[in-house]
This record gives sequence, C-alpha cells and structure tokens, in this order.
Amino acid sequence: MNKSAQLVVTLDGPAGSGKSTTAKEVARRLGFRHLDSGGLYRALTLALLEEGIPLTLWADLTDEDMNGLPVRVSSEDAEFLIEVAGRRVQAELRSPSVTAHVAFLASLPAARRRLLRLQHIAGEKGGLVADGRDMGSVVFPDADVKVYLVADLHERARRRLEESGISPSNVEVERESKVIAERDRQDSERELSPLREPSNAHLIDTTRLNFNEQVEEVVALVKASYTD
Ligand code: DC
Repeated sequence: MNKSAQLVVTLDGPAGSGKSTTAKEVARRLGFRHLDSGGLYRALTLALLEEGIPLTLWADLTDEDMNGLPVRVSSEDAEFLIEVAGRRVQAELRSPSVTAHVAFLASLPAARRRLLRLQHIAGEKGGLVADGRDMGSVVFPDADVKVYLVADLHERARRRLEESGISPSNVEVERESKVIAERDRQDSERELSPLREPSNAHLIDTTRLNFNEQVEEVVALVKASYTD
C-alpha cells in the first residue's frame, strides 16, 4: 500500500464552519474514509435519551455505564456507519432534542473516554479524514495533516439555515447566530478537550470560499504533504 493511503487528516473548527461536509468530500476525492466525531457524540446522546436516563444523572454515569450504551461504529468501504441499539442512525442524530443535549454530554469525562477509544480504533489503519473539535489536538495529535476551519459567525448561521432548506431572512440569521455563539462558548470554555486551534494546523477561513474552493484547499494540503 502506498504511504498516502495511510494518512490521517484532521479538520477541526466551530459549529457551522463546514467541517463535516468538507471532510466528507475531501475523503471521497482522496479515497479515504470520513469519521464524523460529532456524530458519535450525538449517537451517545441519542442512546441516553432513548434509554430514558434522566439528564440529572448523566454526570454520575461511570465508564462502565457509558461502555454499556448500545452505540457501535462499523466500517464499510468508504464510510463509518453509526448504530444505536442495533439500527443505523443518521437523521435522528440531528433531531432538536439530541442537538439540545449533546454539548452537555460532550463535557462529561466518561463520555469522552468512551468515544476516544472508538475514534482510535477507527483511525488505526489511517486513510482517514476525521472532523470535530479536538481531532488534531487530542484524538490524533500526530495526524499527518491538520486543518482548522473558521468562518464569520453570521456566515456560519446562514449556511446552517440554508442546509435545512430555507432562504433565511436577516432576523432568522441573527437568531441562529445567537444559538451558534452559545454552542461556540460551551465548546470552547469546557474543561476537557475544548475547541482550540491545534498546534501545526493550517488555518483556513472559509467565509469567502465556496464549497468547492474549500475542499480543493484541503485536498491540495494533503497532496502537498506526501509529495514534499
Ligand atoms: O459537530 P457537531 O455539531 O455534530 O457536534 C456535536 C457536539 O459534539 C458539539 O456540541 C461539540 C461536540 N463535539 C466534541 O465535543 N468533540 C468532537 N470531537 C466533536 C463534537
């Protein structure tokens, strides 16, 4: 196998910076697999909600409790499939109730330990583009290429709303900006694995880039890393 097929590429950044869609397309163009770590945090949140465990008890859950939750990742050729209680989940991970509780779950040490193991197993063979908040800083600190994506807050809000199929008014963009700013605050201020620009990361501001341009920038960085 050539060395490029074993690379680990990380994409971190705040909510709405375009990490997941970019990572997925970069992985497709390079023939790598895409790991959406936010999806894993969402899956663990969904499992807790489905098990009916009251929110007030989440912080007391032990490693054993977390390990017992029915979340699995299996890998198919081009992607990782996330399963909760034996069924494949996708749209459910983006439901309002999961979205409302995931930042709290992500602040819990036992939850992060559970998912760290899953992510390391996923990354073992390389050939991976992983996106999240701590991919380059904590989960894959030795990644071959690290990217940190940023974009203007209002632009991120607009993209989020457009993704859900609406042409947002200024008032809606303003409202969504407040929601995203609060998520940024929670993700950056938490004690464990806060959102940070990893050392040695390539910073890309996507505010004025279209989707194809941002994908091409990342692909070019990866190609440069093995032709240098
Ligand atoms: O990227 P997203 O919106 O799907 O992430 C969901 C939540 O999970 C978000 O509040 C931050 C958290 N998260 C995290 O703490 N670490 C990661 N590597 C990925 C996501």
